[in-house]
Amino acid sequence: MKKIILLTTGGTIAGVNIGKSEKYEAGALSADEILTPIKERLAEFESDFTVEPYEVCSIDSKNINETIWKKLYLAINKIISDEDVEGIVITHGTDTLAETAFFLEYTLKTDKPIILTGAMRPSTALSADGPDNLFRAILVASSPLAKNRGVLVVMNNEIHSAIDVMKTHKNNVAAFKSPNMGPVGIIVNDNPVFFGAVAKFKHKIYIFNENITFTYVPIITAFAGDSGELVLSAIKRGAKGIVYAGFGAGTYPDTVKKALDFAAQNNVKVMIASSVPEGVAEARDENFASAGLLSPQKARILLMLELYGE
Ligand code: SIN
Repeated sequence: MKKIILLTTGGTIAGVNIGKSEKYEAGALSADEILTPIKERLAEFESDFTVEPYEVCSIDSKNINETIWKKLYLAINKIISDEDVEGIVITHGTDTLAETAFFLEYTLKTDKPIILTGAMRPSTALSADGPDNLFRAILVASSPLAKNRGVLVVMNNEIHSAIDVMKTHKNNVAAFKSPNMGPVGIIVNDNPVFFGAVAKFKHKIYIFNENITFTYVPIITAFAGDSGELVLSAIKRGAKGIVYAGFGAGTYPDTVKKALDFAAQNNVKVMIASSVPEGVAEARDENFASAGLLSPQKARILLMLELYGE
């Protein structure tokens, strides 16, 4: 029997309102409880697959860190070696969901569907979006069409690639977009429909063992009048890499250029990104790398992975 493994990490999808207030506690539901509202719908597919839930952690995703990424990565690597496992769904808080998806995209070597999903409303809200997102994420994970497409994010009936997806709305249930590429598919009548042929990005995959440690890589965002002081502080603090999220297509004040040159001269890798979501950031200096279309947060993960083992 095909198995879909559900790994839960917390977030609003597992959130429960506190009393009658709008406030809620993220990550309050157990892995099993998160499945309760969709059990009946899943029963329609019981001859096709079963869903096995496991809790990895139970956090508000603002607190995600490299230690949890490592735990998730090692758990998934073990799970995908089981040939009965067809796919994995990870429930996650929406605030850092795109970062975790990107980390897994660059570290997992598998053709099995790995799908992340979350919710903007807690489970106890009127018209909570979590059950529908979870159900659709499971359908995508169980589909052969989702194989070999890299790590995917299913939110609000859209399927996005981990490379480009971004949280673009602070409150709305339509909170995720892929600003450059658009969604790679949607779900229609319980079936994923992909807009293009398999398009797994050919990029390096960083393979780790359990002794992974990552180096400190801060993001510094450009602002009018930036003196470059924050770049110099990061070097002093021992950063081996810095992502500078510049203006527009990746520009920065002359004062910052001096500080970034100083970083490069001191073997600190500099990657130029942009705080503008759409388009491509280019480093205009050959000593700096370009983040291209990656958000500053994703550029930071890539630089951290590149520095791993150096
Ligand atoms: C979180 O990211 O854990 C809280 C917010 C959310 O899931 O929407």
